[in-house]
Amino acid sequence: MSAYDTAPGVAAAIDAFKLPEKLGFGLVNAPVMFSAEWHDGCWGRGQLLPYGPIEVWPGSRALQYAELVFEGLKAYRVGQSKPSLFRPEENCRRLQRSAERLSLPPVPETLFFAGIEAVTSACSAIMPTRSGQSLYLRPFLFGTESGYLLRNSVSFRFMVIANPVEAYVSGVMNVAIERTDVRAAVGGIGAAKAAANYAASLRASSAAIARGHTVALWLDGTEHRYIQELSGMNVFAVIDGELHTPELDGAILPGITRDSLLMLSRSRGFKVHERRMAIDELLAGIQKGRVSEVFACGTAAIVAPIAVLADSDGHEYEPAHTDVVARQLRDALLAIQERRAPDEFGWTKEIATTK
Ligand code: COI
Repeated sequence: MSAYDTAPGVAAAIDAFKLPEKLGFGLVNAPVMFSAEWHDGCWGRGQLLPYGPIEVWPGSRALQYAELVFEGLKAYRVGQSKPSLFRPEENCRRLQRSAERLSLPPVPETLFFAGIEAVTSACSAIMPTRSGQSLYLRPFLFGTESGYLLRNSVSFRFMVIANPVEAYVSGVMNVAIERTDVRAAVGGIGAAKAAANYAASLRASSAAIARGHTVALWLDGTEHRYIQELSGMNVFAVIDGELHTPELDGAILPGITRDSLLMLSRSRGFKVHERRMAIDELLAGIQKGRVSEVFACGTAAIVAPIAVLADSDGHEYEPAHTDVVARQLRDALLAIQERRAPDEFGWTKEIATTK
């Protein structure tokens, strides 16, 4: 018996789908989605459906109180007949940790995999196949109960939607250092992949984009001094030839790409440091030439070079190199993700196809 049901219209939705030439990131929706509901203390059976609007109570806690956590992972089919996923069990574990932090019922591993495999398998014939492209999977879990009482919902929904995508950023990034707003503080929900963290970042991100920057760089919520992450990406610096990245302090999202780069770098002989990194130290290091490169990473962004760090006082800091170590790491990571290189860490998982 299949691990999920398939609704009428799925095959027709896939047949009718045409992959556009230009994908962007999150602009093109895959024609199917997965949904399962939690009522009376247990999960119901999942269903694969044609992609479309869903019914949600206007008073649901997901809408009123941001009772929503999500994940992002990619399925690849570059030069392969079958799609593969990259470290999906890490996304499953992180979704469970995020759910635990917001006190939502964890999505069991079997249901999480039923959802991501159902969508990946159904979409395998329409997945983009060029290097750097992929099918981005967005699993999410939210409270559906209507009511303003400040407690968790008693009903929930787990869904997986998907998008054929290119990398989130193209070219080099110009980053705006955010000195006023705070994305997350220790003791809050920064380490959870919670929609509310992204909401907290949107004002500064929109303002940064309006000023011509690519993305905002977040500092800690207590002293506004230590680097946390970029909106939707973790950050690395090459200092005196060694790799440095902010340590996971409870307010930073523990990125799976971040973890993969740490493992890859160590295996390639790089010295790697996870530590508190003050923004002033980084900027002084760029001026003195000790910080030769700064780059970002994430599932959506892969490994994205940073050309400029712009401070709120108008000063701009340009590391001597823009895409040297970043490129090496991106090439090595992408080659494993796209299964063009041996999977030395056992990170990829092939998915059976329905067609
Ligand atoms: C991801 O990389 O999966 C994210 O959630 C980041 C977002 C900016 C797309």
